[in-house]
Amino acid sequence: MRTFIAIDLSPEIKARLADFVGRLAPLGRGVKWVTKEAMHLTLKFLGEVDEARTAKIESGLRSIAAKFNPITLTCQGAGAFPPGSPKPRVLWVGVEAGPDLALLQEDIERFCEKIGFAREARPFHPHLTLGRVKAPADIRAVLGEFDRARADVFGRMIVQRLTFFRSQLRPSGAEYSPLGEFSLQ
Ligand code: 2AM
Repeated sequence: MRTFIAIDLSPEIKARLADFVGRLAPLGRGVKWVTKEAMHLTLKFLGEVDEARTAKIESGLRSIAAKFNPITLTCQGAGAFPPGSPKPRVLWVGVEAGPDLALLQEDIERFCEKIGFAREARPFHPHLTLGRVKAPADIRAVLGEFDRARADVFGRMIVQRLTFFRSQLRPSGAEYSPLGEFSLQ
């Protein structure tokens, strides 16, 4: 089963982001937008995981979550990746948080490495993917609107738990379902 570890977003933030997507979507057809239900902040993508390792991951996440207090997170800023490219691949919203978010992510990364998952080569840049570009020629107006939102605030939440998600790839797009939730202290 295909899995990843993430922070689920508050209903308020999801609603704000879905409103933003609702404004952008009519401006160009070249983007596959993330649905409100699927919006999350990925901490570690694991890929295929068998049953035996699932149990290990769950017990590891329980111990890690218990070491952290709830974390305040602000969704702020919007941009395209790679930045400045006329053919970006990803449209994202930024995430600002105190040092605990990076410490939490590093603990998860270290634990996953210990049980056999390759360490992520790139540094952790917390972001919410809102859209994946399919046809760059089509999205000039979308990029213009995205640029105007580059300093916008989309909400603040207190993260109370980690979520271990299953990802099922369907013709309509990836569908995510929680396998387990682990409360921060
Ligand atoms: P993204 O939002 O930046 O695309 C589920 O697929 C989540 O895992 C997505 O949020 C995705 O991040 C993240 N992810 C990270 N590495 C991935 C990979 N190699 N393949 C698929 N998803 C990945």
